[in-house]
Amino acid sequence: MKRMLSGIKPTGQLHLGNYIGALRHFVEYQDEYEMFAFIANLHCITVPQDPKELQTNLRDCVALYLACGLDPAKANIFLQTDVRAHAQLGYIMCCHTYMGELNRMTQFKDKMAHGEKNLSGGLYTYPSLMAADILLYDPDYVPVGEDQKQHVELTRDLAIRFNNRYGDLFKVPEPLVAKVGARIMSLSDPSKKMSKSDETNKGCIYLLDDLKKARKKVMSAVTDNCANVHFDPENQPGISNLMQILSSLSDERPMGEIEAEFAGKGYGEFKRSVADAVCAKLEEIQTRYNEVLSSGEIDRALNSGAERANLIADEKLAKVQKALGMEIIR
Ligand code: TYM
Repeated sequence: MKRMLSGIKPTGQLHLGNYIGALRHFVEYQDEYEMFAFIANLHCITVPQDPKELQTNLRDCVALYLACGLDPAKANIFLQTDVRAHAQLGYIMCCHTYMGELNRMTQFKDKMAHGEKNLSGGLYTYPSLMAADILLYDPDYVPVGEDQKQHVELTRDLAIRFNNRYGDLFKVPEPLVAKVGARIMSLSDPSKKMSKSDETNKGCIYLLDDLKKARKKVMSAVTDNCANVHFDPENQPGISNLMQILSSLSDERPMGEIEAEFAGKGYGEFKRSVADAVCAKLEEIQTRYNEVLSSGEIDRALNSGAERANLIADEKLAKVQKALGMEIIR
């Protein structure tokens, strides 16, 4: 069985972009692949966190993994810090990543360009840790949204570098970026990615948003005055974004079909259909989320996920340390 691995960093509440760009694919692939889906809590602390809030977000993230349909009987769900090998291989990866490579990573570059002060060393080197997250498990594929593709490409470069230097250590993984929904944009500013750090809070739909609130966000989404539901991300980014959301939530309905359904109809009617699809999905997720929270499923899932992950990760880390000559061979 081929293997897949991915993770989400719960620095805040999970949002529709996380679901459409990543989480729904984890669920889709869990039957066909051996799936490793983890909660990237080491990555969270690259920016300051309120410990109490982080606690809630971590639990919610696992609960949402389950609520969105990840099944611990099929997928290995675990917390990054429950598998210590991540931090250790992360350090080894960091020692093999060139500063020039880290300087090219757009997330750090963007923060620097915005003049953000006191950025941490962890934030700068986090692509090396992400490479370790992946390479510990030799996955064939890494399903991610578009913004993470660059990090998976760096991971590939690092895997090749290690293999050339130390012998065959890692499988070189492929990023898996879906054609539709890999970059969901903010509803209030479709030139920006939908993200947790949305200051206005109008552009981002959280998976745990109150349904009325979520509907309102869709209905007041920024569009254009073309009066034509047409898929053209460059000239009609707002409408195209809503089309991507609708398509992703309705079995990847082709854009042409959506255009035909709304031909000659107003944006109001189109937005109502998008809002209906979003609210139906949120309601389904939230109902299951409430069940999960009051059951013992979270702890059971994390325990069994970490057990399997540790087995694989420890073996890989030992192999790497040996290949690097770091162990005293007895
Ligand atoms: P994170 O937590 O920022 O995002 C989690 C996943 O959601 C995707 N995503 C989006 N997809 C579509 N539209 C959006 N607006 C949107 N926003 C986020 C991301 O592309 C990602 O797939 N560094 C990672 C976490 C990580 C990881 C890993 C992922 C750590 N180690 C190893 C894969 C493999 C991150 O910060 O993702």
